[in-house]
Amino acid sequence: MQAASPSTRGSPDSQSPPGGVELREDVPLTPSGSGGGARLCAGGPRFIVASFAALTAATTLALLTQIYYGDYEVVPHGSVSSDAKSCSGAGTEALKAGGRSMDAAVAAALCLAVVAPHRTSLDASGTLLYWEYREWRRSAAWLAEWGGTGVRRGATPRLLVALAALHAQYGRLPWSQLLQPAVDLARRGPDASVGVGAARGGGPGAPARALLADYLESLQHNTSAELSSAWSSESDMRVSSPAAVRAGGWRVWAGGAGAGTVARALVAGLSPPPADVDDATRRVVAALQQEAASDALSPGGVSSGLAVVDAQDTYLALVTGLSVPFGSGPVTSSGWSQDFPTAPLDLTPAILVDQFVCGTRYVLGGSSAAAVAQAAAALAVTGVPSAVERGRASDTTPASASDPAPASDPAPAVNVVQQRGDALASHADSRGGGLASRF
Ligand SMILES: *[C@@H]1O[C@H](CO)[C@@H](O)[C@H](O)[C@H]1NC(C)=O
Repeated sequence: MQAASPSTRGSPDSQSPPGGVELREDVPLTPSGSGGGARLCAGGPRFIVASFAALTAATTLALLTQIYYGDYEVVPHGSVSSDAKSCSGAGTEALKAGGRSMDAAVAAALCLAVVAPHRTSLDASGTLLYWEYREWRRSAAWLAEWGGTGVRRGATPRLLVALAALHAQYGRLPWSQLLQPAVDLARRGPDASVGVGAARGGGPGAPARALLADYLESLQHNTSAELSSAWSSESDMRVSSPAAVRAGGWRVWAGGAGAGTVARALVAGLSPPPADVDDATRRVVAALQQEAASDALSPGGVSSGLAVVDAQDTYLALVTGLSVPFGSGPVTSSGWSQDFPTAPLDLTPAILVDQFVCGTRYVLGGSSAAAVAQAAAALAVTGVPSAVERGRASDTTPASASDPAPASDPAPAVNVVQQRGDALASHADSRGGGLASRF
């Protein structure tokens, strides 16, 4: 360490910051007589300290510039992972415009209702899990649920009623701005990337999509506060605490009809710590099979999950779904399909946090409890978001083996955002056909 060398200790100017920075302090201190260049640096060590300070300032400035205005792929401020590239994009556009997690979730969920009608619609049931991580000492995770087998209270589509109410309270951006991507996509036509054709044929035709675009556009004239107060008698939103459990070194929160299943399966899979990811998966699958065998009515349906983390570390997982692809009811004159579930839907958002403050956290929007439990175990053991792609034992319901779901039904997908320290990574499950987006 040159900073501590005896020759420089006498001068107060020579106090270099520690850290092994390579400064040859003896050079300006012993001018070599005729060396003209060194004359420029009157005061020797002072010049070095000043240079060092300038370098530090420049580096700090460069870092801050990078953090606040830098390449978004290099320094993600937020991330949205969903079943459609265009909808993840709609979500991150909302984040870029200064929106919070709720803004991104509203934009992405409305977008999915347009581009993925085989999984969700404006009338979809939903489960939303929300947690402000930075406020973890003061504010707990909460859960909002709507739809399902509950009584329908009005003619307004239920996902829309719920999103307007949630946005009125937790959104930052104008409601009309968040509707725009859905309006544009409804006008443009189906998004081939989500594979609607693969799901039991068809879907709403062009006339229905034009009606849907008109309907969404008509909602842009009002704020979400106006709409949610006009629709308040139609809201069936239930707010509660999610199921919470410790599984090995992890804390887990899960919502929806399958929350208990997820919690018990993860405890089985992660505690005591598994030998490897296959061991964890085996234990989770065994627990799921046991649950399925003892449970008379296992939740079902089709759905689409999304995960959002914003720049303020607000975690949001939202799963919206229907009892059958394209909904069980007719398409209304406003172009959206009604859905009348007769059994509980399996809509399973989850958050996984390791035992260290600012350790690794996962936000998961998953289509089924079985898929979420297996994906979460794989994430916890491997530490890489792409672990959601691992093969899963999908048939964990022995009772339904004789009556398998049609092959055309979309497979349960789990979309995830990972935060490790301050670093964000995300992955959209290829079973859902989606793509994660960061900014
Ligand atoms: C929506 O906006 C229009 C035009 O500004 C207004 O006349 C109407 O009352 C609003 N609707 C609600 C439910 O507030």
